[in-house]
Amino acid sequence: ERVDTFDYVIFGATGDLTMRKLLPALYRRFAAGQVPDDARIVGTARSPLDDKAWRERARQALGEHVNDADSSVVDRFLAMLRYVSLNGADANAHWDGLRSLLDRDDRVRVFYLATAPALYGDIARNLDAKGLRTETSRIVLEKPIGTDLDTARRVNEDVGRYFPENSIFRIDHYLGKEAVQNIIALRFANPMLERMWDRQSVDYVQVTAAETVGLEGRGGYYDGSGALRDMIQNHLLQVLTVVAMERPVSLDADALRDEKVRVLASLKPLDRDDLGASVVRGQYVEGTSGGKAVPAYNDELDGEAPSRTETFVALRAEIDNARWRGVPFYLRSGKRLPRKLTEIVVQFRATEPGLFGDGHPGSRLVIRVQPDASVTLPLFVKHPGNGFALEEADASSRLDPGAAGGFQDAYEGLLLDAVKGNPALFVRKDETEAAWAWVTPILEAWQRDEGGPDAYEAGTWGPASARHMLQREGHAWAEDA
Ligand code: BG6
Repeated sequence: ERVDTFDYVIFGATGDLTMRKLLPALYRRFAAGQVPDDARIVGTARSPLDDKAWRERARQALGEHVNDADSSVVDRFLAMLRYVSLNGADANAHWDGLRSLLDRDDRVRVFYLATAPALYGDIARNLDAKGLRTETSRIVLEKPIGTDLDTARRVNEDVGRYFPENSIFRIDHYLGKEAVQNIIALRFANPMLERMWDRQSVDYVQVTAAETVGLEGRGGYYDGSGALRDMIQNHLLQVLTVVAMERPVSLDADALRDEKVRVLASLKPLDRDDLGASVVRGQYVEGTSGGKAVPAYNDELDGEAPSRTETFVALRAEIDNARWRGVPFYLRSGKRLPRKLTEIVVQFRATEPGLFGDGHPGSRLVIRVQPDASVTLPLFVKHPGNGFALEEADASSRLDPGAAGGFQDAYEGLLLDAVKGNPALFVRKDETEAAWAWVTPILEAWQRDEGGPDAYEAGTWGPASARHMLQREGHAWAEDA
């Protein structure tokens, strides 16, 4: 259905995220008829562009990132775009230009901050001081919110001074992914799974987010961040909350997020002295990716001193509550791994040994997030003929994003949720802070540690230490060859 008309103001309008994700997502929703023609998308950035020049860049970006773009629809879409050259962090900048463009207070206004997070507080203050924040304004904050617990708190406080929490939309695009949302349906609409979703039945859980890409020219950002901040603190911990949370009383934003934050608060702090047994960091050295030779991280980065930034993390988390105590949640994410793959594996405990021969494994539910979202839960059945040899009857279901109402990209649904004012799939302040509270001691320990990340060859599943971490408990990563 069509949303009410709006003004979408993007700070960081010439940046990579805007071109690669935000404009293509808004375009697709427009092409699907969900965005009214009189909506406006206002780009702001420091570059001295005009409407025409920004539209030209947008046209190019749509050409690159939307494969079925229709040129007459593109023309109509581009007509909605305006550009104001403005440094949002500068109170003395040309705010009048933006103010005169935003002349309709009765429209929903979304301010999307896709700039360096250090500017969020200043931009929020300026929006308020310049009278641009209306009753129905929302502010969307891209990750990362801070770089550790203290800085995250500061960002939240600074923005919170000018925008009430229910108008702050912290985006984590993994929550916009079809298969991630599906975890909620799978868990709570299937009594069979719901009853087996605990320490009695689950042996362990794995969440993998593997990428083949390396730095992609983002070295400036990435080297100061690393895989723990870039992927684990947000995307993977968000997935973990959805897998592990208790049944919410409803699907309302706060009901859902109350349960998610409880999971984060129940994460067992990683033991300082024994961090090495629960957390592995890696960095790729030269190898092959997609059949091509690729350089080591440090060569790609081309810095002066060798960098200790991790491009891979594998860790073992535990949730200290009645449902999950003792069940390992293994998370891993890395760049330059063998393939692009995001998946959640719930390994159920093996049956009593003996009947079908020893060592018969338990079932495993696989939720594939990407590519090709799907859910697979094999049932063991008897192989036809004599005897009781078992085989897997594959019960799997494709989660087809191409179906009516589906999204090709996670940002599509989320961008419109912000217009509609529904924060259910956005991250609340206490969630971000709880996630940082758990992750920050790892960062601190690494900083104290004289060693660095373990090397792994590009195109492999990370350092051997990641495999050993699971082997010690008699477990193995689902993909690891
Ligand atoms: C971003 C990270 O948040 O997520 C990137 O900053 C990463 O480094 C990306 O590549 C992965 O997203 P997706 O949707 O491709 O899994």
